[in-house]
Amino acid sequence: MTHKQERRTTFKTAPLPFQGQKHRFLTEYQKALKEFVEGNEIHTLVDLFGGSGLLSHVAKRLYPNLTVVYNDYDDYHIRLQNIDRTNALLSEIRPFAAHLPKEAKIVDTYRSRILEAVEKAENAGFVDYITLSASLLFSGRYATTWSAFQKEGFYNRFISHDYNAAGYLDGLVICKYHYQELFTYYQGQEGVLFVLDPPYLSTDTSTYNSDQYWKLRDYLDVLKVLQGSNYIYFTSGKSAIVDLCRWLSDNPGFRNPFDGAEVRTCSAQLNYSSRYLDMMLYKHR
Ligand SMILES: C[S@@+](CC[C@H](N)C(=O)[O-])C[C@H]1O[C@@H](n2cnc3c(N)ncnc32)[C@H](O)[C@@H]1O
Repeated sequence: MTHKQERRTTFKTAPLPFQGQKHRFLTEYQKALKEFVEGNEIHTLVDLFGGSGLLSHVAKRLYPNLTVVYNDYDDYHIRLQNIDRTNALLSEIRPFAAHLPKEAKIVDTYRSRILEAVEKAENAGFVDYITLSASLLFSGRYATTWSAFQKEGFYNRFISHDYNAAGYLDGLVICKYHYQELFTYYQGQEGVLFVLDPPYLSTDTSTYNSDQYWKLRDYLDVLKVLQGSNYIYFTSGKSAIVDLCRWLSDNPGFRNPFDGAEVRTCSAQLNYSSRYLDMMLYKHR
């Protein structure tokens, strides 16, 4: 493939592992985009929760004249900039699992050799722990720091080839803001489409650049962006947010029945490892 052809490739998945990327939605997303762009409604797309940038990338490839703003809250572009270092480290440690079937546990002798190489890279200044986690940790587990990574057991989950991100970020306006700040900047401007793919409700955001859980309140705050905006919004059936909004619009004028109520709580055991809060609320009429 020539360099020029390579630059025009549209990625169907993010070039480096990213939890929660919307690759399964690309077909429907492209159809929705087409409605907005070909209806001449928009000149700018703002990807408020950019994540891996996949939705920004696809939009820019399809519509090169569109201004596409990729809000890179996780500094994913820094992982991409360092992709050669990541490929070099993977090439160094992949041979330690070459004798094993896929998913097999890597024994301690080889695990130590891998850790030595990772520590060396850590001391040299850059390690992409998310990509390393996808290559070595049990499915779905992620460590984001050297201290967390070295406590994990390793499995042969390497892909056999180098990662490639050539041209992936071409033409994107890359920035990093709290989504509300970026929204405030574009709010009310004509011709703007907001793409919103917030973290799932109470999702574990430790692989994102934040250790905060997304609570219902955060989730509901995002809905403020939707009012009066062109938007493409992603959510999960589990969040029940669409049901909640339907219920609220079926019950106009609904007031918070818990205003002024007394709240009592007690901690309850969910299973051996987690607890939750039980609540009792009361109020005199
Ligand atoms: C579900 S992911 C988005 C995935 C993205 N659409 C993709 O295809 O890769 C949600 C993203 O929101 C980011 N995020 C969390 N809190 C944020 C905030 N306050 N402002 C902007 N982005 C935030 C997370 O770090 C994560 O990258």
